[in-house]
Parts: sequence; structure tokens; C-alpha cells
Amino acid sequence: MEPTIEYLKSKFDSALVAAFGQDLVGIDPMIVPTTNPKFGDYQCNLAMSLAKKLNDQPRVIATQIIDNLNITDYFYPPKIAGPGFINLSLRPEYIESCLQTIIKDEQLNISLTKNPQRVVIDFSSPNIAKEMHVGHLRSTIIGDSLARVLEFQGHHVLRLNHVGDWGTQFGILISYLREAFPEALKTANVLEIGDLVAFYKQSKKRFDEDKDFQKKSRQEVVNLQTGVEDSRYAWQLLCNQSRREFQVIYDLLDIKLNERGESFYNSMLPGIVEELKKLGLLEENDGAQCVFLPGFTNKEGESLPLIVQKSDGGYNYATTDLAALVHRIEKEEATRLIYVTDAGQANHFSQVWQVAKKAGWIPENVEIVNVFFGLVLGEDGKKLKTRSGETVRLRELLDEAINKSRNDLKKRLKEEKRLESEEFIENVAQVVGLSAVKYADLSQNRNSNYVFSFDKMLALQGNTAPYLLYAYVRVQGIARKGKINFEKLRKDAKIILQDEPELVLGKHLLQLNEVLNIVAVELLPNRLCEYLYQLSEKFNKFFENCPVLKSEEPLYTSRLLLCDVTARTLKLGLSLLGISVLERM
Ligand code: ARG
Repeated sequence: MEPTIEYLKSKFDSALVAAFGQDLVGIDPMIVPTTNPKFGDYQCNLAMSLAKKLNDQPRVIATQIIDNLNITDYFYPPKIAGPGFINLSLRPEYIESCLQTIIKDEQLNISLTKNPQRVVIDFSSPNIAKEMHVGHLRSTIIGDSLARVLEFQGHHVLRLNHVGDWGTQFGILISYLREAFPEALKTANVLEIGDLVAFYKQSKKRFDEDKDFQKKSRQEVVNLQTGVEDSRYAWQLLCNQSRREFQVIYDLLDIKLNERGESFYNSMLPGIVEELKKLGLLEENDGAQCVFLPGFTNKEGESLPLIVQKSDGGYNYATTDLAALVHRIEKEEATRLIYVTDAGQANHFSQVWQVAKKAGWIPENVEIVNVFFGLVLGEDGKKLKTRSGETVRLRELLDEAINKSRNDLKKRLKEEKRLESEEFIENVAQVVGLSAVKYADLSQNRNSNYVFSFDKMLALQGNTAPYLLYAYVRVQGIARKGKINFEKLRKDAKIILQDEPELVLGKHLLQLNEVLNIVAVELLPNRLCEYLYQLSEKFNKFFENCPVLKSEEPLYTSRLLLCDVTARTLKLGLSLLGISVLERM
């Protein structure tokens, strides 16, 4: 079943050609869902913009469009409003029949994409020997959810973890550890990530102060790059240490990723610089190889170069990104490259893309998208930090979410005089706590900063994970209470949308397909959150106003099925956000 909006678009296309001739083939009919039910369900805004072209009044044009429009099976006769809006209202019979089709389908009749793409999503990407911070958490949660949506639609998605596992910092760290803690370079598991981070800070300090140490560190970088065995081994150990720590977070959050760190591209870097040189794009500046780009200047207005090779021969973050870009396009044959990073990296990427464009490395059929996001703020409105001003450790943050959710739950159980097993409490606390963190992040427009508040994200009311999970639980409760076997009911579903709240809910249930298409294009998970939140609200309204178990047939079955399909829609939608549902909570 195609989304209603697609159906409308194709009907309007035909109507436009029938009314005004071939000139209008391929014009966007400008159909959008209405924001106010007063104007129906969809509206077409095209007539106003055609006025000039057709040299006629919008209302006249709108009438001509309607005269050639054949949508009576699905819609009531269109109405013209204001200067020339065409308002369209769905017929309940159409909604009922769509719902029946949706209910009978395992996948809720969501259509797969017509052109499956190879998509690379570069997300999470923390740095070895440094702590994974809330910025990486955002990247992880947003990237995972986008991957889930695109995979669900039938795209081939490669999830890449572009870990910062290469560069001069390793030379510094290794030479420091050779003095301070040689054991760590020979034996696995003797370091905690916390220690590693501390050592890294100390080594950096040492490097800035001590000339002799600088020399040793530089030699260590060379050793590492040329593959001297014990340096490579030490580096491997350090990477494994961090990796294990990251994996704890990924397991907790149910994140699947393929690690392909910066080191992977190491051997390709000389080729990249060579190629840029051949293309005549390089200029030497203070011994460094640079590309000068228009539009990038410092405060004094002098143009700023992008350095692709430093004067000591080493390569940069940007060089690696150029190599990664070429690899993803040529070897992975990806036609959509998505990078999920904080907005602070906008400059870096815009320079890299410009160089790649100049070099002719981005074919026309390839789309490169930066999925940027804002900062995570504390309740004081400043960048989230611990009380003592340190970076918040993710493990602790997630544990705290689970602890708070456990406390809330225990309090509620006591109030409701419910006795539950330890196992139940642990499971609910974990699912609710982690879902709350994920949902709080995803439900914000990612471009803005957001305030991290445990109280808000764990609240049972409002646009929160617990609120949505609760709507799902409500339906499972009905099934238990009425001893309902939904699967059986689905077989010959007959839906009747009698009262206003059920009609409103029914309409909303038809829109998941459209919403997913929007998320896939705009890469904004908050659109899906908003949809699911409204779904829960509409469901609750329906549930409070329309008796279900106490109604008579045929309403009884119809309403039960509405509950069921709402729950299934919630479950599917939440799963695409990386959130699992609970049967009871
Ligand atoms: N490691 C980087 C950081 O922590 C993020 C990498 C993003 N991906 C990329 N291809 N540059 O900021």
C-alpha cells in the first residue's frame, strides 16, 4: 500500500496535466498534511504559486484542478479555502479499509524503498585512550536510530565506527608508559580506561614541557607508523583496553557497529596527498602541504589552509577523512555518506568536502550529508559536567538513569501495593532507564542543544519514553484482562470508526509510512518521536472516551484491534529508535 500522500501526489499530477497540459508535467503539487483538522487532512498549496505562470486567479486555478481530480474513492469532495488552498478530507471508509490491510500485515504494510541505496553511516567514533563523552553518546544514539530506519526501509547500511586510534598522541602515550608503567605495554588488561585517560593527560603535559621527551615521542610515532613490532603491540594493547570499555556502553545500549578506525586508512594517506599534488591543488606553507580554499579566513582576513601533510611528514584528521571518503565511494560503492558528529566539526567537514569536490572525488550520484547535533547541557544551562567540573563518564550516567528509574519504580509499586520479583524490577528499571536516556536525546531536534534532566526524561507524563512505553503496556493489560488473543482477531479484521476519538486515532495510524519516509530524507529522528508521542496521546484519548471491553460487537472487536494495531505501531516505531517495549511496568 503506498502512503496516502504518494497517492495524492500522483492523482494531482494527472489532474494538473489534464487541466493545463504537458507544461506542468513533473511539477511538485505541494501537498502537505494539514496542521489543523479544521482544514481537513491534507492540503494542496499549488494554485497560488501557479497564478503568475497561468495568468489566472488562484481560486479559478484551484477549481480547474479539482474538476480534473479523481480521488472520490478515498476523499470527500475537495474544498477551496482562502486565496486558493485545496483542502482534502479522508473518508472514514477509506481509513477503515487501510487499517484492515495494515492489521493483517506482519510489517504493518510499510512499503520498502523503491531504490535501495548503499549507505555508510559514520557514527559514535570515540577516541582511544580518551573517555567517551556525552557528545559520543549523542552520535551513537542518533546514528543508530538513523541506521535502523534506513535498514528497515530496505537500504544496505554500513555502520562505521571511525574510532580515533591513530596519530601523534599514541607516540606520546607509549613513550610515557615506557617510563611510567612499562607493564601496560606488554600485558593485557592491567589498565583501566580511567588510568589510561589519566596517563594520557600526564604524557601530554610532559610532552609540552620536556624537549628530550618530545624527541622520544616523535621517534615512537615513526616506529608505530613504520610498524616496529613492540610499538605496534603496545598500541594494540592500548586500543583493546579502550575498545572493551566502549563495548560495555554499546552492549548496554544495544548498538551494533563495525570498527573501522583512522588507522585503517593509514596506508592510503600518501596516495591522497600525491593525487592532490598531481591535480595541482597543493601549496607549501611553512613546510606543510596545504590546500587553500576560498571562504576560510582567520580574524585578520587571511586565508586559512587545510593542512593535509604536516612539516614533519605526518598526516592530519582531515587527510584521513579524505581517504575515508574515497574508500567509501570507490570500495564500498556507497551513494549516500552520512556523518553523525557534533556541530563543532562543521568547519572541518566543509573544508574536507570542498577539497574532495575540487579534486573531483565526489561523483554526481553520491550524496554526502552531515548529521550535526547540538550540545548536551546540564540543568544549569551549561555544558554537562560532573559537580567537580569533569567530563561525565557515560557508564556512570547510564547507571544513574537505571538507578533512578529503579527508585521510581519501587516507589510506585509500594503506592500501588504491588508485589513484584527482583527480576521484574531489574528488567523494568533497565529498559525504562536506558530508553529514557535515548528518547530524551532523539525527541529533540538534533540541531539544538538540550538540557539533560533525569527527572524530565523519567516522567510518566509528557513526551518521554515512559509515557510511550506505558501506552503499550496499557494495551497488553487489556489483552490480559479480557483474555484476548490478538493474533486470532487480526485474521479477518473489520474496523468501524464510529466516534471522533477513534477516527482521529485511525487517521494517525495510517501515517507511519509517511513519517518514516520523512525521517529517511531529513535524518531527523525527532519526527518519529513526535509521531509516536501523538499516537500515544490519541490512543489515550480514545481509550478514555470509547469503552473497549465493555462495548458490544462489532465495535468490541474493532476497538480491540485498534488497541492492538496502536501497540504494534508503537513497538515498531520504538524499535526504530533503538527502544524495546515492556509487557508490564
Ligand atoms: N573521533 C572524532 C571525535 O571524537 C569523531 C569522528 C567523526 N567521524 C569522522 N569521519 N571524522 O570527535
